[in-house]
Amino acid sequence: MTASQHAHGAHAHDHASRAHDHAGSPDDAMTSLLDLDGEVLSGYWSAALDWVASAAASAAASAAGNNAGRLLDLGAGTGTGALGLAERFPRAEVIAVDVEPGSLARLRDKARARGLAGRVRAVAADLDAGWPDLGPLDLTWASMSLHHLAEPGRVLADALAATRPGGLIAAAEFAEPLRFLRPAAVPAGFEDRLLDRLGRAHAEAMPTLGSAWAPRLAAAGWEVAGEREFPVDLDPPAHPRAAEYARAWFARLSEGLADQLEPADQATLTALLAGDGPLSPADLRIRGTRTVTLARRPR
Ligand SMILES: C[S@@+](CC[C@H](N)C(=O)[O-])C[C@H]1O[C@@H](n2cnc3c(N)ncnc32)[C@H](O)[C@@H]1O
Repeated sequence: MTASQHAHGAHAHDHASRAHDHAGSPDDAMTSLLDLDGEVLSGYWSAALDWVASAAASAAASAAGNNAGRLLDLGAGTGTGALGLAERFPRAEVIAVDVEPGSLARLRDKARARGLAGRVRAVAADLDAGWPDLGPLDLTWASMSLHHLAEPGRVLADALAATRPGGLIAAAEFAEPLRFLRPAAVPAGFEDRLLDRLGRAHAEAMPTLGSAWAPRLAAAGWEVAGEREFPVDLDPPAHPRAAEYARAWFARLSEGLADQLEPADQATLTALLAGDGPLSPADLRIRGTRTVTLARRPR
């Protein structure tokens, strides 16, 4: 079992995912969910990566010999971050590390399609088992991956050791999962109750989920350089795949939580997924907040 079988807070699906592990098949649902996040939330992704890229460009400009040339996407998934960074740093080598081969296969396909295969290298590694030999780094982007790790503090310290003095790390995390439904579209409190169940399922499995990351970075030896909240509020979501994203999210929740819900909420969830429920753009409002914490390796 890897610690990787989760997406965007839909972490209550370990049982189904373990079955995937045993079967050795890629987790297609996870892969789709990550791609949909990158597409539907492209405004958030662009803003966050632009902010990080601009900080990295300033750091590179002020450090002789440091040209932000080697970048890492830690827990890269299907590569929204890795490819976004490769596009923002046209001469950089980008290493995308993940434990999930299905996600990395998708990442490689996307890199090829965008003409980035020569500069984006996908490395399969379980960061819980130790730090892979990645060479020296100038910038690490870790989006929604640190909370999956058994010992994120140890991984942050290993990342620090691999980073050139003055180099950066950016951790993108969230206090609460996204919400997808207009309250009026479902029975009162439905999404609250779903997220409450999800939170309980996560509490034991992923104790660092939703925690503050600046203190964790500082404890690992990083110098925190800034933190920015990126609110997401797509009202209504204009992206043509928004309803697909919502459906994929609720399908993922349903896999892990359906048997823990009250019958009325189970019925609402079943109706949502059966296509009789409110998943038209008019019923959706995708909202939440992602927080990016930026830190540098002291010189
Ligand atoms: C929620 S996904 C985020 C993916 C991507 N960073 C994004 O934001 O779209 C978390 C990722 O962390 C990876 N992951 C979890 N545990 C890991 C581990 N021990 N070693 C390497 N990757 C891991 C998962 O496979 C998954 O792709």
